[in-house]
Amino acid sequence: MNVLILGSGGREHAFAWKVSQSSLCKKLLVAPGNAGTNELGTNVEIGVNDFESIKKLALEEDIDMLIVGPEDPLVNGIFDFFNGDESLKHITVIGPSKQGAKLEGSKEFAKEFMQRHDIPTAKYQAFTKDNLEEGYAFLESLNAPYVLKADGLAAGKGVLILENLEEAKKQLKAMVADAKFGKASSTVVVEEFLSGIELSVFVLTDGTSYKILPSAKDYKRIGEGDTGLNTGGMGAISPVPFADRFFIEKVETEIIKPTIHGLKEEGIVYHGFIFIGLIVSGNDVKVIEYNVRMGDPETEVVIPRIKSDLLHLFQGIGDGTFSEKDLHIDEDTAATVMLVSGGYPEKYEKRKVIAGLDDVEGSIVFHAGTKQEEDAVLTNGGRVLAVTSFGENIEDALNKSFVNAEKINFEGKYYRKDIGFDLR
Ligand code: AMP
Ligand code: GLY
Repeated sequence: MNVLILGSGGREHAFAWKVSQSSLCKKLLVAPGNAGTNELGTNVEIGVNDFESIKKLALEEDIDMLIVGPEDPLVNGIFDFFNGDESLKHITVIGPSKQGAKLEGSKEFAKEFMQRHDIPTAKYQAFTKDNLEEGYAFLESLNAPYVLKADGLAAGKGVLILENLEEAKKQLKAMVADAKFGKASSTVVVEEFLSGIELSVFVLTDGTSYKILPSAKDYKRIGEGDTGLNTGGMGAISPVPFADRFFIEKVETEIIKPTIHGLKEEGIVYHGFIFIGLIVSGNDVKVIEYNVRMGDPETEVVIPRIKSDLLHLFQGIGDGTFSEKDLHIDEDTAATVMLVSGGYPEKYEKRKVIAGLDDVEGSIVFHAGTKQEEDAVLTNGGRVLAVTSFGENIEDALNKSFVNAEKINFEGKYYRKDIGFDLR
């Protein structure tokens, strides 16, 4: 099978690492990829939203399967673009249809979907500039802190959590009336704040049957003890110890089944991953968000724990045999530690030479923001490398990642030394 992966982060390197191990994989291309994916396949300098160039590449290279990493092309309808084109429709696309991608592309759509299917989530209302006064009244009816979410994609920055009512009203106005996040915030979901522990559950589905992948917890803040600015994710752990069989059964009954059933009932085509962000408080589990792709850096711990051939599973999604396939999971714990550029998530420099990659032992290094230039591997983003290790427990897995994190060097390197602190 000839496979094309779209994206350039640690998630896509982890996909490429797994797919390249499959006996079904004949040719692997990654667009645009990074220095890590370049070692496993061929990188092609095409943007993930350049559908015409992706089409041309898919035809030239006789691609059989397209695996879509990030949300943007999914929300922009890449599934429908392939499915609706005579010359491309034989290609299996791993990712939801445009309508399915609205679960991430529109917070209001996701909330309405959950309401229609009785899926537990925070109480909410949606507002635009035309009913701003009602928005103020709704905020007054809630207790602090206040949660404001831009309806559309805002590069992970569209959620504001505010302690003060007046500030919340000011920000609501800035979002809906003054386009604080552009068009993405012309509608804003205001919702009840949920306190508890966050974790994520991942599902792979063909729209009818589904398989529950390992759970994971990521660490989003830049600083130790979960302090400072939000990032794309500084590390992750899988499995999450408290997410035992009983917990997952509860999530399956209350959330996963109604989600898959809801998609099917509404005629929404969905061939891909559903990332369900959860908040757990006592015996209560609620959905805080759906994403229509895998998480990053969660993929860097979830995918290595999958023992089954991922391409074989994906193939089942394409040919209607997905429900017959088995999914085997490694029982060991996986941990990943993200090495980032100095200054990230604010201003940082790129093009720093990365040394020590060959000295790593006992961990898998997934490249996130790197670039190969002649013989050198250079930093090319805020999040640079994810160092993943296995262990009998969290401590054990993390220690291996930390030892190897020390062996890798680039100017400004920073990483959190307390990943998993709340689970240990
Ligand atoms: P989202 O983009 O929906 O994932 O939101 C970003 C982050 O905001 C989440 O990972 C949570 O930490 C937090 N968050 C979102 N919604 C809520 C909520 N209703 N209550 C508490 N925290 C929330
Ligand atoms: N790590 C969170 C995300 O991928 O959205």
